Amino acid sequence: MVVTHTIAELRECLRGVTGIVLVPTMGNLHQGHLDLVRIARQHGVFVVVSLFVNPLQFGLNEDYSKYPRTLEQDCKKLEQCGVDVVFAPSERDLYPQPQQVTVELPPVANELCGAFRPGHFRGVATVVLKLFNIVQPYIAVFGKKDYQQLYLMRQMTAQLNLPVDIIGGETVRASDGLALSSRNQYLNVAERAEAVFLYQSLAGMRLSIMDGVTDFFKLERQAREALSARGWRVDYVAIRSQANLAEPTASECNLVILAAAWLGQTRLIDNLEVLKERGAVPGRNLDL
Ligand code: PAF
Repeated sequence: MVVTHTIAELRECLRGVTGIVLVPTMGNLHQGHLDLVRIARQHGVFVVVSLFVNPLQFGLNEDYSKYPRTLEQDCKKLEQCGVDVVFAPSERDLYPQPQQVTVELPPVANELCGAFRPGHFRGVATVVLKLFNIVQPYIAVFGKKDYQQLYLMRQMTAQLNLPVDIIGGETVRASDGLALSSRNQYLNVAERAEAVFLYQSLAGMRLSIMDGVTDFFKLERQAREALSARGWRVDYVAIRSQANLAEPTASECNLVILAAAWLGQTRLIDNLEVLKERGAVPGRNLDL
């Protein structure tokens, strides 16, 4: 495995290489990332993983400076997974001058997480487009844990005609159900024990929907109230259509429940897809 730190080094390394699959990350890798690498290896002959904590996607008071940077450990893990090249550029290399050319995304980028993190997805899309231009992959793998991000990356590649297929990897969870995230390590012991309640709330909502409940606003409100009652500060709990992340009609079958909430100083996000049986009989409790 070759570790590159500049665009020039990386380009030299990739000269003549085809069939590249890119896994963009911000490092501090956990099993969720390694699973994306596994998917990448299934799809391509040459796997590049980028490690870059992108300042453009962090708000002023967010955790950019404390975001864990663990290059050495990350490289060891990636070597064991059979990654071909790591790209870990410096901020100066990726942003040699203030980044004034950015990617304008569809309005849904300003909803859900975008409503609470203004400019976040513009920052994500801009760095991902730069990475695509630098690495020139034909496939890129993103985690479903960041469901809105995955949707927007699909929109960006489709609407800008980028020659990259986007693949979504399933969320990897701890044994109690908590979605793996680099930010979980900010949680203290009590918060870590409580954190699983976010997943449990979404799982409860999914059961209700599968059971025929169609009053989505009520389900969202109940989940928000339950979280707040346990001390969470809720950004949003939302049931949306998988197809476009818009508010769904009651008859829509492919749904996703998304949530973001704070436990102490830590903001956690999670989501669950719901596939309602077409014509399912309301009231019948499906075994999940
Ligand atoms: O999902 C992430 O880790 C980041 O948003 C990404 C896609 C690597 C862009 O910085």
